[in-house]
Amino acid sequence: MKLLVCGGAGFIGSTFVRLRVLESGDEVTVLDKLTYAGREENFHDLAEHPRFRFLRGAIEDPAAVSAAVDAGQPEAIVNFAAETHVDRSIAEPDAFVTTHARGTYVLLEAARAHELRYLQVSTDEVYGSIESGIFTEDSPLQPSSPYSATKAGADLLVQSYFRTYELPTFICRGSNNYGPYQYPEKLIPLMILNALHGDPLPVYGDGMQVRNWIHSTDFSRAIGHVLEHGVPGEVYNAGGPDEQENLAVVQQIVELTAADPGQVEHIEDRPGHDRRYSLSSAKVRALGWSPRVRFTDGLAATVRWYRDNEWWWASIRSGEYRSYYERQYGRALR
Ligand code: NAD
Ligand code: TYD
Repeated sequence: MKLLVCGGAGFIGSTFVRLRVLESGDEVTVLDKLTYAGREENFHDLAEHPRFRFLRGAIEDPAAVSAAVDAGQPEAIVNFAAETHVDRSIAEPDAFVTTHARGTYVLLEAARAHELRYLQVSTDEVYGSIESGIFTEDSPLQPSSPYSATKAGADLLVQSYFRTYELPTFICRGSNNYGPYQYPEKLIPLMILNALHGDPLPVYGDGMQVRNWIHSTDFSRAIGHVLEHGVPGEVYNAGGPDEQENLAVVQQIVELTAADPGQVEHIEDRPGHDRRYSLSSAKVRALGWSPRVRFTDGLAATVRWYRDNEWWWASIRSGEYRSYYERQYGRALR
């Protein structure tokens, strides 16, 4: 397939692109704004590949989107481009509205004009928090944060293009991803790098919140599966095989890095903090997908990757991330 992958310089987008270029033989054009989270280092091994092309540009910019469609002549648009950190959405929601609402609209219009398939990458956070039981695709949308609310808005706009214009759309909602190349503002890489550096491990509230972890290669394969085998107009959830309390995740990272358990510190809770996510994947499993990576194995491999790839994170930890960290946690990194 020829694909236009928006947000392909980020954590999951670059993982998806790597799999599609190297395993599926696809020709991929990446359009990415390169925000703080988008990095050319994420596709360092693909940059010279003959089936890979990178263009820098924003999805809310119709000229940039049009140039990317002209360059790549894609059959489908896969949209990963997003602002993705809940804490940043609480502090500064503006970019979340622009990218998720305006950006998704511009991409949908391009898909309509060129008669392309359109896949929106979305999140379980659009359903809000669930104390017990499991979310299905029919669960109501009850987002808690500006991040999840703007993602939910984008999903509704996508569905309107299917109903109104019969655009062949697909929505794939993932649970919490982890794996290599994840920006260290997120729980798992933050804790790994802090553990390795002797920094405190900041757990929000009691740490008993539950997340349903999926490895980024498993989520990427689910997205590819929906693109190839999904029914237009449908939503597909892709949840990981394991649920974990945050504190248990942090304790495993302490063990895997041989850190001092005394580094764990409980700090003030996140406002509007969702207590638990749990996602049914029955619908995408019925298409033939299933997750391959169990959390214990994936976490150990992820810790090894961060330990072995200082070249990837050293410039992050010495750059913008340091001032973000001070604003968010009220203390400097070591
Ligand atoms: P990320 O923050 O690592 O990457 C986002 C990418 O989008 C970056 O490369 C950034 O430069 C790019 N981008 C941001 N705004 C843009 C714009 N206006 N125009 C063009 N590019 C722009 O995010 P991620 O964790 O890889 O998430 C990718 C997608 O998957 C998002 O849509 C997110 O909502 C969804 N998702 C993430 C998770 C998770 O746990 N990380 C779980 C489920 C779904
Ligand atoms: P995060 O990685 O931000 O993902 P999300 O909010 O999208 O689920 O956070 C995962 C969980 O970890 C969430 O319950 C908040 C918690 N958390 C902490 O306890 N401390 C931290 O420093 C961070 C970043 C997250």
